[in-house]
Amino acid sequence: MTDDRLSSMAALRNRDPILDVLRTALPETGRVLELASGTGEHVMHFAHNLPDLHWQPSDPSPEARQSIAAWSAAERLPNVAPPIDLDAAQGPWPMGPFAAVVCINMIHISPWPATIGLMQGASSVLPAGGVLYLYGPYRRSDRPLAPGNAAFDEDLRARNPAWGLRELDTVIACAADHGFVFEQVIDMPANNLSVIFRKTT
Ligand SMILES: C[S@@+](CC[C@H](N)C(=O)[O-])C[C@H]1O[C@@H](n2cnc3c(N)ncnc32)[C@H](O)[C@@H]1O
Repeated sequence: MTDDRLSSMAALRNRDPILDVLRTALPETGRVLELASGTGEHVMHFAHNLPDLHWQPSDPSPEARQSIAAWSAAERLPNVAPPIDLDAAQGPWPMGPFAAVVCINMIHISPWPATIGLMQGASSVLPAGGVLYLYGPYRRSDRPLAPGNAAFDEDLRARNPAWGLRELDTVIACAADHGFVFEQVIDMPANNLSVIFRKTT
């Protein structure tokens, strides 16, 4: 069957470990905005398993949005909204409030202004107490990069010098500049991290 559904091996591998964290990190009800939804496989999986949350996928790539819409048409989940065009660096951000913002594997594969935009935009759509969840590989000041992450970082920088693994402390400082308190970091498979923030005011 040919359709617009894309599939990512990585997303299929990491979706259950991420879901386990989301079960405890996210509120039980409310709207969740996902940035950089990619194929849409994550949002379908989370929406299926967390049916009391209403999911808003987004991606600036038309191909990704087509894939998300195609997965949505196939899965017919009542708690997934049609994908929106959202570039974290540029907006426009959808009308809030959202209970949480989820962003998986974007920060290292976009220029730094996308992370600043993510923090600004997430801050604008979340009320006090809202959750910002990040997932991906990071540099950490107190330990060396795992060899796999060092090779990945080199590959990313060769593809685009503005990409690359970010220092976790720098991301935490950027979040703090936009009203987020850092709550927790959780080690995930394949040297990735879940990083959880809460909006303060
Ligand atoms: C590596 S993929 C990750 C997709 C999905 N979250 C996953 O983990 O399978 C990176 C995604 O980030 C999106 N992206 C890149 N720059 C972005 C930006 N400035 N704002 C929002 N999304 C962006 C891309 O279109 C792509 O879908």
